[in-house]
Amino acid sequence: MKECSISQFPEYIGQDVTIKGWVSNRRSSGRVSFLIFRDGTGICQVVAERDVLGDTYQEIRKIPIESSVIVHGKVVEEGRSAGGFEVQASSIDIVHLSDEFPIGKKEHGPDFLLSNRHLWLRSARQTAIMRVRDALVRHVRNYFYENTFTLIDTPIFTTTCGEDTSNLFSVDYFDLGKTYLSQTGQLYLEAAIFGLGKVYCLGPTFRAERSKTRRHLTEFWMVEAEMAYYDHKMNLDLQEDFVSYIVQNTIAERQEDLKLLERDIEPLKRVVPPFHRISYDEALDILHKQGSDIVWGADLGGDDETVITQLFDKPVFIENYPKQTKAFYMKQHPDRPEYVFCADLLAPEGYGEIIGGSQREDNYDLLIKAIKDNNLEPETYGWYLDLRRYGSVPHAGFGLGIERTLSWICGLKHVRETIPFPRMLYRAYP
Ligand code: 4AD
Ligand code: MG
Repeated sequence: MKECSISQFPEYIGQDVTIKGWVSNRRSSGRVSFLIFRDGTGICQVVAERDVLGDTYQEIRKIPIESSVIVHGKVVEEGRSAGGFEVQASSIDIVHLSDEFPIGKKEHGPDFLLSNRHLWLRSARQTAIMRVRDALVRHVRNYFYENTFTLIDTPIFTTTCGEDTSNLFSVDYFDLGKTYLSQTGQLYLEAAIFGLGKVYCLGPTFRAERSKTRRHLTEFWMVEAEMAYYDHKMNLDLQEDFVSYIVQNTIAERQEDLKLLERDIEPLKRVVPPFHRISYDEALDILHKQGSDIVWGADLGGDDETVITQLFDKPVFIENYPKQTKAFYMKQHPDRPEYVFCADLLAPEGYGEIIGGSQREDNYDLLIKAIKDNNLEPETYGWYLDLRRYGSVPHAGFGLGIERTLSWICGLKHVRETIPFPRMLYRAYP
């Protein structure tokens, strides 16, 4: 019999095949058992009959959920069964009889599920999320490939802080003292544009954030892009095009998974250019009208972002934050030096920030001043400052968080389900 996967069943209708996988569920009677069977590519129903299986039937009849089995049998189209196909088993080899699986049909709390993440990952919802993640990351890479960007893999051990010094994870690095786990690949991407023009990186980044919100992980994946000869406006136009591309391609490809997740994709279909653009000052006006007492200069919190996104039917850029609010490398506005050329992109439906981006300070003197104003040591930024000495150009870029974007696309309440093994303030196991 030919071995095949469940996803290939349309080519094997009426044929005898071998499939290898696990029993997700079972319903048995005296002479026939129906197994819900999965192999990683899909699910199907396996019909196991006493009269056909003989002695093994007694074991199959009460086989524990999650046991691994190899099924030989005929593929039949069956609209009423899960996955649309049925396999009429001629024989079944039991590979391993599972212990009683700790995750059952009853509701479990998030802590229990996270402590059993290594087992929870097998569930239908979790595998659906992982497939959407796979598609999202692939479309991210495709976008950059189609738009002549070059991939630059940036280091994870770094000596220069790229974002906020208060949330660095430090690592003892032999005789050199402390290094830090990278918060961003951006500074290294900036070095790469001088040879390659348009570049991107996609990898894990680390923030020692003591926040327990639904949007924060201590280890998350970020895709960052950096472009030579791009100003602030060109940066936003590119982001709009990029986000529309990844959202439309991902929802088109993973319709079945999003249906299983009960995600209404109509709001996602509206994610096409142009997005809304408002200034930081306008955002503050909106918040004040809604009763907030946020003061000029404060960064928007998660709740502020939620309020704003609920007023817009598409993603919204918040542009030109106060210089004091944002990272040192952002380009100072030439006429209004208290602002910088930057934007955060907020995803609608309450999701909030998915992108942080900016035009970069390309002037050597202003950059060194910003480094000092942020209490950073110019000596550690020697290499970064060099980039403003040898053919400095206007340039801009952005970083998009994969987990926050996936959480929005899948319609999840918390980012913890969007990454295979989440790392959070109180969780580094399993
Ligand atoms: O706004 P951030 O901190 O920007 C940067 O790191 C820039 N260096 C990017 C650049 O311009 N190249 O982070 C970018 C995005 C956020 O908008 C968010 O989506 C995600 O990374 N992010 C997090 N995701 C999950 N958990 C956290 N703790 C996150 N912190 C940031
Ligand atoms: Mg940010």
